[in-house]
Amino acid sequence: MSGRTLSTLYPAPYPRRDARHSAAGRGRGHTGAVGVRRWWDERALPRLTHRSCQGADVDRWRAPVCRAATGVVLDVGFGSGPNLEHYPSAVTRVLVAEPSDLAWELSGPRRTAFERPVERTTLDAADLSALADGSVDTVVTAWSLCTVPEVDRALAEALRVLRPGGSLRFVEHSLAPDAGAAGWQRRVQPVWGRVAGGCHVDRDLPATIGAAGFVVELEQARYIAPGPFRAWGWFVSGTARPR
Ligand SMILES: C[S@@+](CC[C@H](N)C(=O)[O-])C[C@H]1O[C@@H](n2cnc3c(N)ncnc32)[C@H](O)[C@@H]1O
Repeated sequence: MSGRTLSTLYPAPYPRRDARHSAAGRGRGHTGAVGVRRWWDERALPRLTHRSCQGADVDRWRAPVCRAATGVVLDVGFGSGPNLEHYPSAVTRVLVAEPSDLAWELSGPRRTAFERPVERTTLDAADLSALADGSVDTVVTAWSLCTVPEVDRALAEALRVLRPGGSLRFVEHSLAPDAGAAGWQRRVQPVWGRVAGGCHVDRDLPATIGAAGFVVELEQARYIAPGPFRAWGWFVSGTARPR
């Protein structure tokens, strides 16, 4: 994978899931879609994400974010587990918020190699009711807050489960800072959101994280793709600490 560039790796589509569908008895990670749509969302997108969200260019962003994690980690939008190999030995346990059954299945070899407990705790980051207040040392999000449907609730839950002194480490694509790219993001969003399982290219994630009660410290923020691809290519990473 290391030969690929970020502009070919990204944008990466991924599935929209709604834990409430599974609660209604349609299967654990079932999106509620039917026919081709269901095949796309549940079978194709998790595999595409698995293949595309890895490699040297992606790891340049992913590794520094994961490297700072400690203790009990909540990995939001775990996908097929590419963060695992970047967690240091200071990470003792990984709790997973991930709706896709297929992504979880694909993460099997990575979980085995990790040799520490990795537990799928919830299907929806907006519902962390299985976790006690202050029970998590680090929350990690890697290109997932763009697609979690109830992102404000997910961030409120992250805030609740973080222990005092804990932090959220994030790497995401976000609303672009210049009007040209942001305009493209708003134009492509209606179509993009449908084909990419609910991904938002036009979410201002540092602002959203800040509004949820965190102090945001950006470590990197720059375009990773040229021209029109900048609509998908404004990457941000950093740390957010409870205010
Ligand atoms: C682009 S993928 C990123 C996966 C992984 N973090 C990575 O870096 O490759 C976005 C992930 O968010 C997950 N996701 C979607 N809705 C979610 C929700 N409500 N709660 C938690 N994760 C969700 C998707 O299933 C998908 O695995």
